[in-house]
Amino acid sequence: MDVYILGIESSCDEMSASIIKNGNTEIKTIVLSQMDIHKKYGGVVPEIASRCHIESATMVLDELFDGLNITMDDITAIAVTYGPGLIGSLLVGLQIAKTLAFVYNKPLIPVHHIAGHIYANNLVEDMKFPLISLVVSGGHTDIIYMKDHFEFEKIGGTLDDAVGECYDKVARVLDLPYPGGPQIDRLSKEGNDTYKLPLPLDDETFNFSFSGLKSAVINLVHNEEQRGNQINKADLATSFQNTVVKIITKKTMKAIEKYNVNKLIMSGGVAANKALREKFETLCNENNINFSVPPIKYCTDNAAMIATAGYFAYIKGLRSDMSLNAIAVDSLYNYVNKYKSSN
Ligand code: KG4
Ligand code: ZN
Repeated sequence: MDVYILGIESSCDEMSASIIKNGNTEIKTIVLSQMDIHKKYGGVVPEIASRCHIESATMVLDELFDGLNITMDDITAIAVTYGPGLIGSLLVGLQIAKTLAFVYNKPLIPVHHIAGHIYANNLVEDMKFPLISLVVSGGHTDIIYMKDHFEFEKIGGTLDDAVGECYDKVARVLDLPYPGGPQIDRLSKEGNDTYKLPLPLDDETFNFSFSGLKSAVINLVHNEEQRGNQINKADLATSFQNTVVKIITKKTMKAIEKYNVNKLIMSGGVAANKALREKFETLCNENNINFSVPPIKYCTDNAAMIATAGYFAYIKGLRSDMSLNAIAVDSLYNYVNKYKSSN
């Protein structure tokens, strides 16, 4: 029998709902982004984000079911992002999911946001194990080993800023609008790699550190300004992006070698980055590694990835009762056991 998962995602500034069939087929997804509202503040304002979610939630759900021959009766279970994320934003999606689960008597499936990002890849092709999963987003930079569905083993992660956060902060010092990642990505196509920047945490571990690189760019810009020199923004964007791509690809390829896998999947907002995608495509081709990355629309936050992860969480037996609460900071690596044992 077909399994239809209704997914709900509201962890940051996107309110999204989606229906996914059998963990790999998208029926319909609605994503309502508040990017234009937050742009003028240079970043997401949590209080505004949660208030906008409240205003848009029922509209997003109405729109999702509009024109479909699927109703709530056909939905097998409801999957929702419970964390990590902005607490006020998370609470809105969570309350909607709990209400629907209660009213329609459906199982409630808690989904960790990063599990969602990882499973965006299953919408491209069925995930084959073992594999290395690289998650690069505004909040995470993780290299994860998976030997089966919903088995997440941490290999490495950032010790300070996430890579997307670093992109956004560097963009801000270059006076580029929020979110900075796509702006730097676009600008770097027009520049040359002329600025010398340190390759951060270039060591034997699989960890990352981006705060030093961020500070190096900020100091460079301030020093040049004090000397009355003009910064070439395109060149600096190129040098910064090349440095990021170099360290991320270097450590990820090393992890692939060490764990002896021939499959790499990448996801998260920064996985939309053209230079990073191209570099991995080249390296994986050269090393006979099968590489997949979701289309851009599944890289940034959306509920299709939550419903897809929700399907595998459902199969694995993850459930929650109505006491499920939003969690701002939560590890992916304790998540599965926590919700399996609460059955
Ligand atoms: O996954 P996501 O939508 O939200 C989080 O869960 O964090 O990721 C958002 C991040 C932002 O930092 C944004 O600047 C970055 O992804 N981003 C990019 C690109 N598109 C989005 N970074 C680099 N290049 C891009 N093309
Ligand atoms: Zn995200």
